[in-house]
Amino acid sequence: MKSCASEAATPFLFATCRLGAEPTLKSEMSSLEPGIRSAFARPGFVTFKLPAGFSSSDRLILKSVFAHTAGWSCGSVRCDSTAQGAPRVWDLVEGRRVHHLHVWQRSSRGGPLNPVTPLATEIGRQLLSRISRDRKPVPLNQIAQRGQQILDCILIEPGEWWVGRHVANAIPSRWPAGVIHREMPPHAVSRAYLKMWACLQWSGMAIAPGDGCVELGSAPGGSSQALLDRGAHVTGIDPAEMDENVLAHPSFRHLRMRGSELKRRAFREFRWLIADANVAPKHTLDTVEGIVTYPGVPIRGVLLTLKLLQWNLVEQIPSWLERVRSWGYRHVRARQLASGGQEICIAGMRHRALRRVGRRPRS
Ligand SMILES: C[S@@+](CC[C@H](N)C(=O)[O-])C[C@H]1O[C@@H](n2cnc3c(N)ncnc32)[C@H](O)[C@@H]1O
Repeated sequence: MKSCASEAATPFLFATCRLGAEPTLKSEMSSLEPGIRSAFARPGFVTFKLPAGFSSSDRLILKSVFAHTAGWSCGSVRCDSTAQGAPRVWDLVEGRRVHHLHVWQRSSRGGPLNPVTPLATEIGRQLLSRISRDRKPVPLNQIAQRGQQILDCILIEPGEWWVGRHVANAIPSRWPAGVIHREMPPHAVSRAYLKMWACLQWSGMAIAPGDGCVELGSAPGGSSQALLDRGAHVTGIDPAEMDENVLAHPSFRHLRMRGSELKRRAFREFRWLIADANVAPKHTLDTVEGIVTYPGVPIRGVLLTLKLLQWNLVEQIPSWLERVRSWGYRHVRARQLASGGQEICIAGMRHRALRRVGRRPRS
């Protein structure tokens, strides 16, 4: 006989993260909100019991580097049959408004890069087909607008779903699973293409056609290609060889050297600086500091990939952010991107106006 059960769970928070980042997410959350306790967890998915008096998840979501998305937990549904489980999802939402339904699979070893899998889409369709009569149909796995209420359904295991809700606010909180995904374009020479594309979408950095970008650690060239596809002019600095397709691009120039070897005044021609060198974070920060604080260097924004060579480097993230702020970048945020590795991306902008806030993703 098929079994079906659901359990309401409040006041709990849920959060999803990259595989392997769960312990870091737990300690990050407890440093952001003393009194919070991790509860049910699976790879890529953690719930937290909230302290008395906790009222807003927005601050945690905004400040967390490791949570891809987070929200209030409504409870879980364990059902052998999707048809029987679907109405229970809507029961857990009770009378709350819902503008969007986001359904996705938690991260798993060897699992798909895009959490919005065909299975998630299929289950989402079934949830919508059993939406309670008093509700209007809502879009499935679409990007929400700021302020809209999102119902989250995370597929934990076959027949086990976690149901949550959150309000769309910061850019990633509007995406299904807090992740922006696209297929690798055929001309991309490395996976760094997708990482840079996602980083541009997340940061909203307004790199415009014709803007001069410099990338430290550019070989073989995927991330430079993502910038070139935006119409930027890119100078890649790397002692290693660039892919010949990138070298052939008319808006690309390669300087075969280390970032610290180019005279600092030469950076006066660039508006944006990207760093993706496989060196210790301190090395990247020292090099970038020397460049962006040099007189007359007009870098408006920086996108820095910092490798977490050991997880305990996480403790230094607040001081890294402070350091970037001290260079005059007042708007500084960090995130572990789903498309990156054991690393974080820091985006620093001199002015908020340098962000393309709320626009649709573009190539
Ligand atoms: C992760 S790969 C970069 C991937 C690249 N962004 C892409 O899109 O294909 C790291 C690169 O950093 C380069 N690198 C290491 N130390 C460097 C330094 N001091 N200055 C510039 N590049 C450096 C390495 O040669 C290597 O090509």
